[in-house]
Amino acid sequence: MFGATGQTGQHFTSLALQGGHRVRVLARTPSKLNSDSPNLEIHQGTITDPLDLDRLVDGVDAVVSMLGDAQLQRTSKINAAFIEKLVPAMRRNGVARFLYQAGGLSAPPGRRLTPALWAIRNTVARSYNGQHEDNEAVMRYLTDDAMDIEWMVHRAGIGSNGPSKGVLERSNRKVSIATFADCASYSYRLLSDQTAIHTCDPSTYRK
Ligand SMILES: NC(=O)c1ccc[n+]([C@@H]2O[C@H](COP(=O)([O-])OP(=O)(O)OC[C@H]3O[C@@H](n4cnc5c(N)ncnc54)[C@H](OP(=O)(O)O)[C@@H]3O)[C@@H](O)[C@H]2O)c1
Repeated sequence: MFGATGQTGQHFTSLALQGGHRVRVLARTPSKLNSDSPNLEIHQGTITDPLDLDRLVDGVDAVVSMLGDAQLQRTSKINAAFIEKLVPAMRRNGVARFLYQAGGLSAPPGRRLTPALWAIRNTVARSYNGQHEDNEAVMRYLTDDAMDIEWMVHRAGIGSNGPSKGVLERSNRKVSIATFADCASYSYRLLSDQTAIHTCDPSTYRK
């Protein structure tokens, strides 16, 4: 798990531990992890430094990325550079499944955002443009160079850290403004959804 101390990642990590999984995380700030579960294995480090990725992915069933650093991503595609090293390490260690959380305002490869989403991205959400461009570079890499990996991208639309507003489901056109908890719960389910492999869909609340 990469990004386990983040706003979505903390919820995701709790869900995985509650689900009985053993969770190995890379955290640059381990003190932010508020769990003393014996099933949580913590490695300290940052994705922008050289890492022993073989050791991090050895023996895992799946890899999850909920990474983000909006400030740094204004000038540098840190996620794409990292994922391009992570995927070969997954291959070397026979790890097939990979979930990457992007944003509802990140355009999937070969497709444009709707005019409404494009307008939001370029006005109120303008300060996250670098993060979306990085997410788009990750999706392009996965599509062009990693179709042997069972990857799925959740293009999350998140608005608050409030309580659950319902159950999210995959949609190829609608993005709901969800809570971090609901997005984490959706991504947790998505990870074992065979039909989500090689999709870059957003999620929307079930009616
Ligand atoms: N926030 C939103 O409203 C929103 C909306 C839609 C989509 N998304 C997408 O969802 C994804 C995750 O967003 P989020 O808001 O849940 O994340 P977040 O709260 O910003 O947390 C990001 C996580 O990445 C970790 N991280 C950042 N740089 C790192 C580095 N160099 N090395 C190791 N770890 C690093 C952070 O560690 P630290 O705790 O040490 O900082 C943290 O665990 C992003 O792709 C974002 O585009 C977010």
